[in-house]
Order: sequence, then structure tokens, then C-alpha cells
Amino acid sequence: MEENRGQWGSKIGFILAVVGSAVGLGNIWRYPYLLYSNGGGAFLVPYFIALFTAGIPLVILEYGFGHKFRGSGALSFARANKKFEWLGWWPSFSSFIILTYYTMILSWAMNFLTFSFGKTWGADTNSFFFNDFLQVSSGPFDIGGMRWAIFIGITVIWSFNWFISYKGVSGGIEKLNKILLPMLLGIMVIIVIKGVTLPGASVGLNRLFTPDWSKVKELDVWIDAYGQVFFSLSLAMGILITYSSYLPKKSDINNSAFMTAFANSGFEFLCAIGVFGILGFMATAQGVPIDEVASQSIGLAFVVFPKVFSLMGPIGTLFGVLFFVSLVFAGLTSSISLMEAFVSAVTDKTGSSRKKVVTITAIVGYLVSVMYATGAGLYFLDIIDAFINSFSIVVVGLLEAIVIGWVVGADKIRKHTNSVSIYRIGKWWEFMIKFVTPAILIYMVASNIINEFNNPYGGGSYPTSALILFGWGVVGAIIIFATLTSRAKWKDGTLEDIDNEEVA
Ligand code: PHE
Repeated sequence: MEENRGQWGSKIGFILAVVGSAVGLGNIWRYPYLLYSNGGGAFLVPYFIALFTAGIPLVILEYGFGHKFRGSGALSFARANKKFEWLGWWPSFSSFIILTYYTMILSWAMNFLTFSFGKTWGADTNSFFFNDFLQVSSGPFDIGGMRWAIFIGITVIWSFNWFISYKGVSGGIEKLNKILLPMLLGIMVIIVIKGVTLPGASVGLNRLFTPDWSKVKELDVWIDAYGQVFFSLSLAMGILITYSSYLPKKSDINNSAFMTAFANSGFEFLCAIGVFGILGFMATAQGVPIDEVASQSIGLAFVVFPKVFSLMGPIGTLFGVLFFVSLVFAGLTSSISLMEAFVSAVTDKTGSSRKKVVTITAIVGYLVSVMYATGAGLYFLDIIDAFINSFSIVVVGLLEAIVIGWVVGADKIRKHTNSVSIYRIGKWWEFMIKFVTPAILIYMVASNIINEFNNPYGGGSYPTSALILFGWGVVGAIIIFATLTSRAKWKDGTLEDIDNEEVA
């Protein structure tokens, strides 16, 4: 059985793969805006507290768990306590769903990469994106036509994902990250250097970093900080558990956890500087305050930035190309990790060959993704993503902390990671996992649920039936699938097949 599982070629390969997963669209288009809108420099306080009280402790937990039980999320939970196998499947199915729409966003980015050369988006980039490019339909139940350009992009990305996954852990995933991640960093450094030297950049940067300490008193700001740390570190997706199960038996877990977390934060910070330098340039060029141009997510990437690239003149072409390449690279290294979280769980459970599982996953995933290439694709993405982020991921994180912390035993995991690590973590870690992290996450889950009932997602722009079907429905379906799959039989001997002598 163990031979059917891959192994990293080197420790740096593992680190790069985890950082590749962590560094994604969230770093580029979400973190800069969060920093800006949540008190600027002052946001760093909740952010770092979130990193140390939940982010890093959970990274250590997931690494330690996957490394100790040597399996995907599903296999590790099944080995630790058969009753909780479903908790391993839940994030694996979430990963699969996220992957289906991540692919669409990457397809948009690829399309915009080609538009950069001729700045095809024209003067009204908002109308270009929503009306001409996406041809957004009237609502989630109006499918609209197939957008062939997006369809082609989805086909390319899925073929690529299939190819890399097919090549395996060290031959595919590790190689991909070893090539793309340094390139991504290089591109980002170029964007940042050019960005901060643009006229007006300092306006954006001053506005970004000027601390507004009153924000630190707002609870929402804290929830944002924890949410960002969670999402950004790719926690509660089964990814870190799976990736660390591919480490050799003797590998420094604790040290890797700190390294990957800091690398991710550093990259986020770099992106914030670049993005706000560029926004400062735009505000100055148009003679408007920063607040009018600051934005995030798809609005930043596909509406505001294209406008900036047009404003820049000829150099804007280069900026545009570099920016969309960076989105594609950052996205590919994250999507490959989502794919792996799912593929490894299925391979572990069925004992089928990796190649077969990868191929079937890619075909099914591709067919689901094609739905997003329609005029209603943006609505599907928006609703599903909101519900998975506010309910699925946070609840899984909470359950992981409780089940691994209390049932499996935080002390066992700590003993395990300390036995293989040079830097030993103290009792503080158990305290975080058993008390602090769950308390914060319970608060987050409760506030998200109350919020959703008081103000249903979308502020009334979506019919309730759409929120029930695509929001609660998809999250519910993930849980049902997870429960049913956990009832199926394991390939003979898999659960017992672990010579996990306590190294301590
Ligand atoms: N960590 C990625 C980011 O910051 C997002 C992501 C989450 C990717 C979960 C894969 C899985 O953008």
C-alpha cells in the first residue's frame, strides 16, 4: 500500500509545494484590501495574533497528524479513529468543489493575459468584463449561453492539472512548484519594484500603512484576520495533512510549519505593497482619492487593474502580462494542491492506481467546471465560494481542533512532531489547539451563521432558492457525500498497514 503513495524528493520540495498551495489568489487580491480596509498598519496586530493563536498551531497540527498517520485526510482520520473518517472526507470533497471554480478563475486570467497585448478591454473595463467577456445572465437560474473563450481556458487548465497530477508527487507536483514558485516570486518582485516607483505610489502606500487603531476594537476585523489566516494557509482542506504524509519518516515538522507560514505572510505583504503602489498611481493619475480605486477580488484583477494598465501606456502591456501570469502561476500551484487532497483520499481508500484516479477526477471535474463557463457561472462561483468559506472551511477547522485535540490527543501529536523536529514545541501548543483555537472558531462559526440568517448572502440580489440550492445545498451535499464515502469499505489491510513505531 505504502508504495502506491508518493514521497517528496527533498524537504525543500515539500516546503515549496506547501507554500505554492498557500500562495494563491487570496494573497494577491484579498490580503492587500483587507489590510487597507481593516485599519492599515494596525491590522497587523490582529493578523499576527491570528497567525500565532490559530494559523501556525493548526499548521503544526495538520502536518503532525498527516505525518504520524501517513495518509490523506481520509486515511489519517480513519487510522486515528474510524468514527471520524467522515471528517477526513469532508475537506476532500470541498477541495474538489473549490477546484472546479478555481479553474474558471484561472481561465479568466488566461484570457485576460491575451487581452493584455492589445488592451482589448477598452475604456469601460467594468462593462467589458461583465457584459462583453462574461456575458453575465440575469440570475443564477438563467444559464445563458456557453462562453467559448472561457470554455477553452477551462479545457487548457484541466488538461494541465491532469498532466501534473498524473506525473505524481515528486515527478509532478514537486517539479511544478520548483519551477513556478521562484518564477512567481521573481515576477512579483518586478511588479512591486516597478509599482512603488510609479508617480503617486507613495499616496497608496501611505494610505495603506497609516494605522487606524480604532479598528482593532472592532470584532469584525478580528474575524477577518482569522478568516484570512485560515484561507491563506490552505488550512482545513486536507491539503497539509496529505502533503506532510509524503514526507520521509524523519522530517522536521515544527520548523517547516513556521517556515511555510512566514513565507506565506511575507508574500502577502509583498503583494500588498505592489497593489497599493499601483493603486496610488491610478488615484493620482485620475485625481481621485484612494478610496475610489481600492478594491479586491475579481473587481481588482479584472476591472481596476486593466484600467491601470491602459493608463500606463506602453509599459502597461508588460505590467498586464506579468500580472496575469502571476495570477495563473499562483492559481496553478494552489489548484494542484486541491486536486491532490481529493485524489490521494480516493487512491488511499480504493487502492486503485493513482493514474486511474487522477484521470477520472479530471474528467468529472472538467464536466462540472464547464457549467461555470455559462452566463450564470459568476453567480455559481459567488454563492458556492461564500458558503464554503464561511461554513465548510471554518467548521472543519473547528472539528479538526476538537477531534484531534481532545479525542486523538493533542499530546500525542505534540510528542510525535517533537520526536522528529529539532525545534521542540512546548505545552502552549496543546493549550492553543484544545482551548484557544476552538473558542475562536466557535465564535466565528456562530457569528457567520447568525449573520447569514439576518442578512442572507448577496444582500437580496439572490433568490432564497438559489442560496438554498447552491449555498446550503452544496455544503450539505459535501457532508452527505463525506458520510456515505466513509461507510464504504477500505481496500484490505490499508488501515492496519502502518508501522508507526512511536519514535519518541
Ligand atoms: N491559500 C490560497 C490563497 O491564499 C487559497 C486556497 C485555499 C487554495 C484552499 C487552495 C486551498 O489564495
